[in-house]
Amino acid sequence: MKIEGKVTRSVWVEADGWSVGIFDQTVLPHRVAVLRLAAPDDAVRAIATMRTRGAPLIGAVAAYGLALALRADASDDGLRRAYDALLATRPTAINLKWALDEMAAAVRDSAPAARAAAAYRRAAEICDADVAINAAIGRHGLGLIERLAANRRPGQPVNILTHCNAGWLATVDFGTATAPIYLAHDKGIAVHVWVDETRPRNQGASLTAFELGQHGVPHTVIPDNTGGYLMQHGQVDLVIVGTDRVTARGDVCNKIGTYLKALAARDNGVPFYVALPSPTLDFRVNDGLAEIPIEQRAPAEVTGVSGRTADGRIETVTIVPDGSKVANFGFDVTPARLVTGLITERGIVAADARALAEAFPDHASRAVAPRRAAE
Ligand code: MRU
Repeated sequence: MKIEGKVTRSVWVEADGWSVGIFDQTVLPHRVAVLRLAAPDDAVRAIATMRTRGAPLIGAVAAYGLALALRADASDDGLRRAYDALLATRPTAINLKWALDEMAAAVRDSAPAARAAAAYRRAAEICDADVAINAAIGRHGLGLIERLAANRRPGQPVNILTHCNAGWLATVDFGTATAPIYLAHDKGIAVHVWVDETRPRNQGASLTAFELGQHGVPHTVIPDNTGGYLMQHGQVDLVIVGTDRVTARGDVCNKIGTYLKALAARDNGVPFYVALPSPTLDFRVNDGLAEIPIEQRAPAEVTGVSGRTADGRIETVTIVPDGSKVANFGFDVTPARLVTGLITERGIVAADARALAEAFPDHASRAVAPRRAAE
């Protein structure tokens, strides 16, 4: 994807060959700032404070965080400490644990002197795999948009609603939910994206709108409560969202507010699709409502809003009376019954236990005997 016209990924190894670069997503879209991660604690802080975010990207940055840790201390203890610190940063997106387990498995049997090199190799593979998965999701999702476009008058766009940021800033490249949109746009299909602003952190207004704009995709930012109105008035043809964890039976955990969009979509006969890369599948859990830990973040994210002042400073202002209590649940779970289909790298899969097990038998069988890889 391009940022200010330059082709880039969302995480990379710097020219020194070992430190890691990411964009500081807390200052986008107002500023493009690169952060250099030079120690495992830098990676821990960047994930916990959401300077880097989005389920697949959290996994990729954590993978490099583990590589940074092994440069400093490649002992079993060092591996375990770094694994635990990185895993504790955010609880909901399963990609974090998946990536850390992959990393631990890749280095566990190497001699300590060889571990850091093995870790950098595996982290690079995880990043490349993410890009390939998202490209495949894009190809499979493109068919959905093409079918809708076939019934349009020339120039009349396919209207797609998305929530939060499941774009290239949430992944290593392409994005998941946005991958089909970028492909359709690049093929000359008229698309228009309704972008939920996604309070409290506004990932839609700040990040999705930014990256769609960088790519020239027509889009409109809407307050989170607008989607239902638009669906009632025939202005949404398709919903595509990302996900932080999908259970064995197809329940979808994603950014808070996703469930309400799924309800509105069902009530209005609008197809509701979820873009699902396989590392986001968690076959160890079944009932998403009961079993997925939902992150609760700081009240300050709700009481304050950040933005750019007229003279270019980024400031946070308070919008809630002093003393009012606030709640800040980061995610919700959309039951499988409300999901029209899962756009995966292996095609469109029904959100049900049998279809998922048939499409991903390799992942399903690995989940039977879960192993904590840092052990
Ligand atoms: O809290 P965030 O910004 O990390 O949450 C991100 C989302 O919920 C995304 O929609 C999800 O991670 C899918 S990203 C491809």
